[in-house]
Amino acid sequence: MSLSFREYGSGFPVVMLHAFPLDGRMWEHNANALAKAGYRVIVPDLTGFGRSEEGPTTVGMEYMAREVSETVATLGIPRAVYCGLSMGGYVLFRLFDIFPLSFKALVLCDTSASADSDEKRAAREQMIETVESEGSSVMVESLLPKLVSGQTIEKNNELMSELAEIVREQSSDAVCSALRGMAARPDSAPLLKDISVPALLIYGKEDSITGLDAAKDLLEGIPNARLETIQGAGHYSNLESPAEFNHYLITFLNSLDLSN
Ligand code: MLT
Repeated sequence: MSLSFREYGSGFPVVMLHAFPLDGRMWEHNANALAKAGYRVIVPDLTGFGRSEEGPTTVGMEYMAREVSETVATLGIPRAVYCGLSMGGYVLFRLFDIFPLSFKALVLCDTSASADSDEKRAAREQMIETVESEGSSVMVESLLPKLVSGQTIEKNNELMSELAEIVREQSSDAVCSALRGMAARPDSAPLLKDISVPALLIYGKEDSITGLDAAKDLLEGIPNARLETIQGAGHYSNLESPAEFNHYLITFLNSLDLSN
């Protein structure tokens, strides 16, 4: 099924996949900057999030990847630069596994190639129970403060309120389906050596959810990757430090040969 998406600007296509438990609105400031810099930006809401229809009880990362691919295909786009943050990155590993030729370049932000540990899976089970009984707004208190840096919590009330609103608006069923899908995702580390397109990694230095070890694994595993880290930003680096994030992303895009 095709996903709901937002589109900005014109030029070479850049597809941006959002994090959990957000939707495409998390890329708004970045997408506007990319559009101004001369790119066409496509921002889907992943399965069940935002305005996209819900999927099965467990929405695997491959399921989301296939929906992204179908959506991009309806726009007649054979190759794009793909950018994903955290869960968006998990989806991109699956998309690369199935359709490697659709990638012109890859941008991975605050994400990891590894599968969940047993401890992480147990924590997801717990979160599913809580969201099923109390609704997605429970994550505003229990999860959101862990996703951003201390500096963001202290100084950026506006962003915290925007994020809280987006989290509250997500359907509990979609949240639980994605949690089951993330818990079941395979280890993508064996794929890394095959990612021959240029890759940019952007991580918040204070990302305590993913951690910089995950970034280093990607840097070592992907043949043509470079890493940029952002001081003062946590897991949602694009939202916490949009100017620096956009600078790294646009510099990378401008360095690519996008003639074919
Ligand atoms: C995200 O930001 O997408 C989540 O932290 C992903 C996860 O729960 O593993």
